[in-house]
Amino acid sequence: RPSDIYGDVRRNSQGYNLNVAFEREPLLENVAAFDDRQWSMKPLVAGVSTATDVVKTITSPYDTRQTVGQVHWTQPEHARDALAKADAAWFDWNKTPAVKRAACLDRLGDLLEEHTAELMALCAREAGKSLQDSIDEVREAVDFCRYYASQARETMNEATLLPGPTGESNEHYYEGRGVFLCISPWNFPLAIFTGQICAALVAGNGVLAKPAEQTSLIAGRAIELFHEAGVPTDVLHYLPGDGATIGNAIMDDERLLGVAFTGSTETAHIINRTLAARQGALPTFIAETGGQNAMIVDSTALPEQVVADVMQSAFASAGQRCSALRVLCVQDDIADRVVDLIRGALSRVEIGNPQKYETDCGPVIDEEALQGLSDYVESWRGKGRVLAEAELGTEAANGHFLAPVAIGIESIDELGREQFGPVLHVLRFKARELDNVIADINRTGYGLTLGIHSRNEATAAYIESRVRVGNCYVNRNQIGAVVGVQPFGGRGLSGTGPKAGGPNYIKRFATERVRTINT
Ligand code: SER
Repeated sequence: RPSDIYGDVRRNSQGYNLNVAFEREPLLENVAAFDDRQWSMKPLVAGVSTATDVVKTITSPYDTRQTVGQVHWTQPEHARDALAKADAAWFDWNKTPAVKRAACLDRLGDLLEEHTAELMALCAREAGKSLQDSIDEVREAVDFCRYYASQARETMNEATLLPGPTGESNEHYYEGRGVFLCISPWNFPLAIFTGQICAALVAGNGVLAKPAEQTSLIAGRAIELFHEAGVPTDVLHYLPGDGATIGNAIMDDERLLGVAFTGSTETAHIINRTLAARQGALPTFIAETGGQNAMIVDSTALPEQVVADVMQSAFASAGQRCSALRVLCVQDDIADRVVDLIRGALSRVEIGNPQKYETDCGPVIDEEALQGLSDYVESWRGKGRVLAEAELGTEAANGHFLAPVAIGIESIDELGREQFGPVLHVLRFKARELDNVIADINRTGYGLTLGIHSRNEATAAYIESRVRVGNCYVNRNQIGAVVGVQPFGGRGLSGTGPKAGGPNYIKRFATERVRTINT
């Protein structure tokens, strides 16, 4: 029963069925009410919002002529001030019963649901997310609130009595560590942002929230809702802006006792080195990073089902998920059929404005991402390795669009760093080469998601037991982990764990205490 595994019985948030006009149309009308809205965000330290000299304009990734709003970037003194204020405030928050902190998260979940239309508009206009992705984004954020709240009620509200000798009582309990810096990515600008902060707060910590530069507006709205839900303004501070500026201002400070980071492996290494070089208290570092995710398909798999799942896994969200499929390893016997079907499916992909119901694939996040991905694809095109490619429509002219593409490779060793976009690599292998494929996947050093397609249970189990990953999906797509259902996170170059949306996540933000009393 879920209650045994995850604490009190809870349900994941409700979605919308976009294929049903009477659900879709009112929702889209509500979202469209925010079409002309401009948002403005400034660093928010102890509830005081401060204009700064560095102001960036945010434009829509799918149409850079459209502005979404402005963000005032945090300067070093704001970051230092926020750290000092959070350090002074977290202890009282930590002493607040966990049920009260959890109640704030539950209220936040309700507030996020109430603001679904505005948040969906921001997901689309600021991050270029499709309608379905925007709905899923809000739902995941809501799920994180309620799930971590239920976890805190279950594990952090009361001490656990331990067995001990007569005349002595022993109790084990959790409490906050201090101040956490939460650094979140643009690809889940609401869900991951909210999830990290909820976990840090509910465990009793103060939080400095640093969103991705590209998606600071939706993050700023979320912070306003956190405060409206009852989180004290001196416990949670909002620091939009340049990562290096903010990091350099506070990362060396001993009062910063934890960093939760989701983003690239390269940046995780930099943060890890900076924290390791510090003197004094040893800080906690939680990192969720990238993947070089594979799907292994043997000759017993059903090509139509494989391709439906490949299209989802590789190209949904324009491939901008850390879980996304990057290398499809398909057994020779059915490879021609699978590649033909991929070619057909790619020729039908609708690329364009993500706010349209018909759109399958939206933009990539910005010009820099587009440039890097385009150069990469061109380098393979030069070698004659492009197997199939979608067609960019006229709608793509004003935004950062890359046509989803499949590239043939001869070995996984040919892959360099992760390409964070709609780029799929296809590798053919012979049955006797399966162990080499598994070894090559493991040798990338990443370990996030793995897809397996096989109707032979023994083969699927064999592959699953040998590939070192965090999340393995058999005979389905390999994206879209659901909070509390598929706790998500990897190993090796893909992150430190614990899994987001899993039973151990909030505990990593806390520290343990034992109280022994001689009675
Ligand atoms: N949690 C997300 C997914 O499963 C991460 O990219 O797709």
